[in-house]
Amino acid sequence: MTDLVATARSIFQPGKGILAADESVHTATARLASYGISTSAEMRRKYRDLFFSAEGVEQYLSGIILFSETLLEKGDDGELFPSSLAARGILPGVKVDLGTEPFSASPNELITQGLLDLSTRLAGYKKQGAVFTKWRAVIRIDGDQLPTPVALHENAKRLATYAKEVQTAGLVPILEPEVLYKGTHSRQKARSVIIETLGTLFSVLEEQSVDRAGVILKTSMALSGSDSGKKDTPEEVAEDTVAALMESVPQQVAGIVFLSGGQTPDQATENLAAITKHAKSVHAPWPLTFSYARALQEESLSIWKGKPENVPAARAAFLARLAKVSAAV
Ligand code: 13P
Repeated sequence: MTDLVATARSIFQPGKGILAADESVHTATARLASYGISTSAEMRRKYRDLFFSAEGVEQYLSGIILFSETLLEKGDDGELFPSSLAARGILPGVKVDLGTEPFSASPNELITQGLLDLSTRLAGYKKQGAVFTKWRAVIRIDGDQLPTPVALHENAKRLATYAKEVQTAGLVPILEPEVLYKGTHSRQKARSVIIETLGTLFSVLEEQSVDRAGVILKTSMALSGSDSGKKDTPEEVAEDTVAALMESVPQQVAGIVFLSGGQTPDQATENLAAITKHAKSVHAPWPLTFSYARALQEESLSIWKGKPENVPAARAAFLARLAKVSAAV
């Protein structure tokens, strides 16, 4: 097994998963503002420290995805975040895409940017302590109009180019083609779009000879759209999600992690528990775990409100949610 494959697999230790803490400056500002918290670079640093320095997180987290600015910052203990995480056995990763823009060939769809100077940036992130990376593509469902095959293909091509460069740089790529939860679509539609998205992605990865054993897939669950008025049971979500993955994901991939996508913390936890149970019963070949941002942060942020006196209670809420999500895997 190569070092990269071993690193990718080490994310999947029993009961452990990933905290996605890689919100860009823009997203972090909007996230904090939505909890009535004012923002500045220092407030973003405190926001990261709230989660990273919670005592005992290493019981539940094998990795944390950082935003590039956080790689260079220190916790309240004076340690650089990547080294304090690594010292506790938590692998530091970094988001390397530069966000999305409208896709010229289909302007209602988004395409992810960030390939131009990628290899230079990767060398810098590696020196700063990152061992894995993430690239997010966004796939929107709208009736039978979206997604278009051309947008799926272009996003897949960029994910494959990213994965190849990251492996060449000696880092592990997480490939995240997020099929958005937002919409009025049915769960069956989400399932078929996930199959089409992942089918396209893995055929392009093969064409570009990316080592699939060294990649981690980050995927959405198959859910009825958030504006559909339909509430799925965890068993329904599990059946459609696992069926979609069994149909489209090669058995060689190092593992699969799920995003929470705007589900409530309880919904993301219960659905994950049902998915892992169902995957086991059908002998799915890959390890599965979580890579959540909102579902892990939400309860804690509403307690914290940016105030130092609320830090202990906010950290306790974060650890309590981590314990539940960990039990789900
Ligand atoms: P959510 O869990 O909030 O969907 O975020 C995961 C993520 O990394 C999105 O890019």
